[in-house]
Amino acid sequence: MQLLSAYLKHHDTDTELVELIEILMVACKEIALQLREGALAGIHGTTEDTNIQGETQKKLDVISNDILKEVLLGNRLVRGVASEEEDNPVFGHPEGRFLVTFDPLDGSSNIDINVSVGTIFSILEVPEGAGEDSVDLFLQPGRRQVAAGYVLYGPSAVLALTTGTGVNMFTLAHTGDFLLTRENVQIPHSTKEFAINMSNHRHWEPAMRNYIGDLLAGAEGPREKNYNMRWIASMVAEVHRVLTRGGIFTYPWDSRDPRKPGKLRLMYEGNPMSLLIEQAGGRSTTCYSDILDVDPQNIHQRVAVALGSKEEVETLMHYHQETPSIIQQ
Ligand code: AHG
Ligand code: MN
Ligand code: MN
Repeated sequence: MQLLSAYLKHHDTDTELVELIEILMVACKEIALQLREGALAGIHGTTEDTNIQGETQKKLDVISNDILKEVLLGNRLVRGVASEEEDNPVFGHPEGRFLVTFDPLDGSSNIDINVSVGTIFSILEVPEGAGEDSVDLFLQPGRRQVAAGYVLYGPSAVLALTTGTGVNMFTLAHTGDFLLTRENVQIPHSTKEFAINMSNHRHWEPAMRNYIGDLLAGAEGPREKNYNMRWIASMVAEVHRVLTRGGIFTYPWDSRDPRKPGKLRLMYEGNPMSLLIEQAGGRSTTCYSDILDVDPQNIHQRVAVALGSKEEVETLMHYHQETPSIIQQ
């Protein structure tokens, strides 16, 4: 089985990018170790703090964020990082070529119950002719990502990675190496599995209510097949399932808080996951247009997300074209 770095070099990946991905994996391995110790390392529970989104920070959100920051900002290739757990970007090497955004620990409500969580990352290049350190350097559409991926800390730790030429998966071995375990991942185009937090049903757009209603109607309804449902509350785990066996995952727009068009964040959840999904032959959308084309206005911007098996996502988009929207643009 091939080592991560050997695989990347063999496929002519830019050598500096390989170096950066290796550095990132040093941090993820450390996070994996902390998670494995669990209660033994005293890492469960919450801190006294909330992050910029007003969410309570788990101890492990903070620990993971600190590990990633320390490892990345110490490297000459990294101009700056932006994180779910940092109000503003943090800058590192002034000559650094790359910018990294990350969700240090996704699905963190699952930590204390010992269910899968993950780290999501997106790598951008500093735009040519860029001026001084500022958040503007980061505000690039997802199509400009040079690499993206996640590490799922589940029964095994798995890296799903794209550098823009397909998606590959690497499993963390006891030796501390990531070894290639799935090459050129392809998402089946059709599916009978969906993932959505049904408790928000009353807050969705009419189009989403119609679509989910038709899935629930099963073989007797207009979709003429029975669907199964999953909800792990950890986007990394849901996307991993979708990449592995297909499906549709959505966290749509809802009317609970007009300042939050969707729960998930564009720069370190929506964009990296969308690149992986597209690179594996799937589709990723706001329900109206491709997430990768959204022009970011700020680093913690939220976005409605629907991703997965191409045909199913396109059917969902069709419902949104047919039904008048209630979203105030
Ligand atoms: P995070 O733990 O980084 O805040 O992200 C959690 C996200 C995502 O992973 C998951 O799909 C969703 O929030 C779950 O939300 P609900 O608790 O509303 O189901
Ligand atoms: Mn998250
Ligand atoms: Mn998080």
